[in-house]
Amino acid sequence: MSTSSFSRKFLWGASTSSHQVEGHTYNQWTVWENNNAPRLAEDSKDATSNLNKTGYAINWSSIEQNASMASNYISGEADDHYKLFNEDFKLLKSLNLNSFRFSIEWSRLQPEEDQWNQEAINHYHNYINSLIELNIEPIITIWHWTMPVWFANYGGFERKSNLKYFYNYVKKVSFEYGSKIKYIAILNEPNVYTGMSYMVGQWPPQKKSTTLALLKVYRHLAIAHRQSYKIIKKDYKNIMVGIAMSLTYTLPASTHNPINLLAIKLKDYAWNWWFLNKNKNFLDFIGVNYYMTDYLNWHYKIKSPKSPVSDLGWYMQPADIYYVIKETWQRYKLPIIITENGVADAKDQYRQWWIEETIKALTKNIDEGVNLLGYLHWSLLDNFEWAFGWWPKFGLIAVDRQTMKRTIKESAVWFSQKVKRLSTND
Ligand code: BGC
Repeated sequence: MSTSSFSRKFLWGASTSSHQVEGHTYNQWTVWENNNAPRLAEDSKDATSNLNKTGYAINWSSIEQNASMASNYISGEADDHYKLFNEDFKLLKSLNLNSFRFSIEWSRLQPEEDQWNQEAINHYHNYINSLIELNIEPIITIWHWTMPVWFANYGGFERKSNLKYFYNYVKKVSFEYGSKIKYIAILNEPNVYTGMSYMVGQWPPQKKSTTLALLKVYRHLAIAHRQSYKIIKKDYKNIMVGIAMSLTYTLPASTHNPINLLAIKLKDYAWNWWFLNKNKNFLDFIGVNYYMTDYLNWHYKIKSPKSPVSDLGWYMQPADIYYVIKETWQRYKLPIIITENGVADAKDQYRQWWIEETIKALTKNIDEGVNLLGYLHWSLLDNFEWAFGWWPKFGLIAVDRQTMKRTIKESAVWFSQKVKRLSTND
């Protein structure tokens, strides 16, 4: 009799994105970091600053030393993963993981509008070959928020007429790597990108306009997904093409207030479901990125009475992934991959518990009939956490950025043993 709900083919893996680990990328984020690092360092000391007002209870005094240095906000050499990828894949393998999600860096492939960079194209061929040789399933993200500077200067996704550039890039990725891969997530979290770059206005290009965000950028990304799906499927019918979407679980501050309940329905629709509803006929799988549960008191977030918070101040209720997956399945009946899930935990004190709770929840989802194909932890390596820089630590593996030495964390050792038991038990 089967003792594990997870099949032998289940994808156990980890995720990364190019800009956060590769090092020496040159895209719109690099430019923004270089222009904003000193300000971000100052902002970290100012309780009223944008960086500080995330709506979450970050314990700034505990990370003050790192957060107040300008160098914290520069991706720079990152984890030097562009060079050290072979070593990193061997570590991934040693953790009993069989899949890996990464993004292609558009700005490397196409540094200028009329120029394809053969060195970078070859690099990702070697990169994918290396995964395949190790029997690790590559899962490509085509766009994880970074873009060539020339594309950003043209207005990025603000202008519908710019989508043609994105399609050229998608065609190139599909042409080059399509025959080697089974899974592609076209976009990473279009909701987070639109929200942070165009509504909160914290990320580049730091615009704050709901109309620009919702009527242009978010809509254009939805169109971009659909068209790109068609481009890839035209030549590669067997590739599973999907998305990695940030889905949040939201609970009402008080269930007695009907306005609360309505507000949550609206928020869930706008944040979790609008994009997926629009594209449900152009998805072979739904990638779910789950990090947090929010408590809402009609229009503002409140503190959770009971949950501990991560280093980023996010309420840690890992078991709630169950509800998110359940609803995603009920709505779309499409295969699901957890494309990201993890916790900012510099002391590695919560990660094992987090993964354990998550696996229990996913077991329940599978036992109830959800077609769950995989779980990819965020992240393989400690990496560059966007506007927060280097201090948040999401990795299964720590990186000493002076020596680039990798150290496997205790939680990762535990995870690897758990995966071994779950994948040999059926
Ligand atoms: C993003 C990652 C990020 C992670 C942790 C996700 O929203 O896709 O790039 O590092 O969350 O914040």
